[in-house]
Amino acid sequence: MTQTLRRIALARRPSGLPVPEDFALKTDPLPGPGAGEVLVAVRHLSLDPYMRGRMDAVKSYAPSVAIGGTMTGQGTGRVLVSRAEGFAEGDLVTGMTGWASHAVLQGTELRKLDAALPDTTALGVLGMPGFTAWVGLKLYADLKAGETLAVAAATGPVGSMVGQLARAAGLRTVAIAGGAEKTRLARDTFGFDAALDHRAFEDARSLRTALGTAAPDGIDVYWENVGGKVLDAVLPLMNTHGRIPLCGTIAMYSGADISAPDKLPALWRSILVKRLRISGLIVFDHWAQFDDFLTEVTPMVSDGRIAYLEDIADGLENAPAAFIAMLTGGNTGKQIVRVSA
Ligand SMILES: NC(=O)c1ccc[n+]([C@@H]2O[C@H](COP(=O)([O-])OP(=O)(O)OC[C@H]3O[C@@H](n4cnc5c(N)ncnc54)[C@H](OP(=O)(O)O)[C@@H]3O)[C@@H](O)[C@H]2O)c1
Repeated sequence: MTQTLRRIALARRPSGLPVPEDFALKTDPLPGPGAGEVLVAVRHLSLDPYMRGRMDAVKSYAPSVAIGGTMTGQGTGRVLVSRAEGFAEGDLVTGMTGWASHAVLQGTELRKLDAALPDTTALGVLGMPGFTAWVGLKLYADLKAGETLAVAAATGPVGSMVGQLARAAGLRTVAIAGGAEKTRLARDTFGFDAALDHRAFEDARSLRTALGTAAPDGIDVYWENVGGKVLDAVLPLMNTHGRIPLCGTIAMYSGADISAPDKLPALWRSILVKRLRISGLIVFDHWAQFDDFLTEVTPMVSDGRIAYLEDIADGLENAPAAFIAMLTGGNTGKQIVRVSA
């Protein structure tokens, strides 16, 4: 057993898009578990857009990472030492390990994984992102067969689950994704009826024209993952009584406020005129339904009804680069880091 713990710490708060110097690789002595705790050797680490927010010192729905603190994140791993009831050496588990080679967590903070599916699925399609899509659609989208749904970041773990569940419910699905390969994957792997490359359109107006062709009956559900140009393009195409589950605004996470405040009055009025229902969604409010999600969706993943893509970077030291790339679309599918074999 290695006697040291490697971790990626927040070296300083980023200005705009993070750069490698905002992170630092640190080495600490390997901690031992106390009573009720478990020492886990991390196998896979999840990289998620929300982590960008944790790097800032602003008040949000979750606390910031302290300077010098380990970057927050969910991982999977094997139990090395257990002093918690119900866990034994060798168990495959998942929990908030942080960006680290090892973690000591309370047994109550860990969930055992079924070895029938790859442990990486617990971070994406059968983890927090897949659950976000499932619960957000159930609570806020009011899906109706024959309607049209649009979603951006469509090949990512949230967008691809949104598209597949909506299509299974009988909706026409329109993907917006970055680049020709991602639009191909949206159609061929995730079954979207149409897919547009947002990078191919220089402004919201030209993207809107193409979206109008891809969604000839208008858009009833816009699953909001990105904000920015895509939001500007979609809003005028929304049908009366449309629904917008507001899940993320990644175009704005690193400081670029593309949806300028002077656009708000027009947006405000279109919510009124079209009676749009916009629902803010934070997945952490809904954990009580996570087991229902697993019960319903695990068989769909096992038998291939739900497809998923993973993008696995190698080595904890490469987590910052993979994270920075993901924030601007460098990932193809759920971004994961392989920390150990
Ligand atoms: N509210 C919640 O509780 C909750 C939970 C989970 C996730 N989320 C949010 O859901 C969204 C998707 O998350 P994910 O984990 O599935 O991420 P993801 O799709 O794996 O990665 C982010 C993707 O965002 C797209 N993107 C980045 N900048 C963009 C821009 N300026 N315009 C358009 N697209 C851009 C890129 O895809 P392309 O290359 O295809 O453009 C990139 O691959 C994020 O906003 C995330 O914060 C929210």
